[in-house]
Amino acid sequence: MNLPKIVILFSGAGTNLLNIIEKLHLKECEVVGTITNRPEALGIKKAVSQGVEVEVLDHTLYESREAFDVKLLKTINSYKPDLVVLAGFMRILTPLVTDNIRAINVHPSLLPLFKGGNAIVKSYESEVQEGGISVHWVSSELDGGEVIAQKSLKKSPDETLESFTQKIRTLEHELLPVTIVEILKES
Ligand code: GAR
Repeated sequence: MNLPKIVILFSGAGTNLLNIIEKLHLKECEVVGTITNRPEALGIKKAVSQGVEVEVLDHTLYESREAFDVKLLKTINSYKPDLVVLAGFMRILTPLVTDNIRAINVHPSLLPLFKGGNAIVKSYESEVQEGGISVHWVSSELDGGEVIAQKSLKKSPDETLESFTQKIRTLEHELLPVTIVEILKES
């Protein structure tokens, strides 16, 4: 069967990465490769344990953001993916990459609220009683591309940062795979 191909970019724990692989790999799509910019990322073991290839591109070894992005784009293109999924990829990309790939990103807030880093903490500490997550197209504007899907949650009166983070993660694990499948079916 000719499954659509996806590449996943990640930087950290890789819970979304593992969730996508477990739910979709060789069923709805083929995860042809994963790429991380952090050699110590815990997600590396998770991908390897599932038999999925991991390419480590340590951004600290590149002389500039552009030099890293040239290599990143080349690596992504080598897989010829139908879709690129940013799942906790914590690095700002230049238009060299964003203008030349078809990519989505998961962000732990109800965009346009709380763009950028530490979105979970910002959202938890804010007066807004609702938190949530967004899946959006990647554009040259950080966390600014068109929103594809969102899920929200209400903060409970005794909410801790840990419980809030867990709820966010659960929503991400529900929404991201479903959204990937929908996009791949439409393409
Ligand atoms: C996720 O919460 C994701 O939304 C966030 O990083 C976390 C990665 O977790 N991404 C961003 O904040 C992007 N701006 P994971 O490594 O366990 O999947």
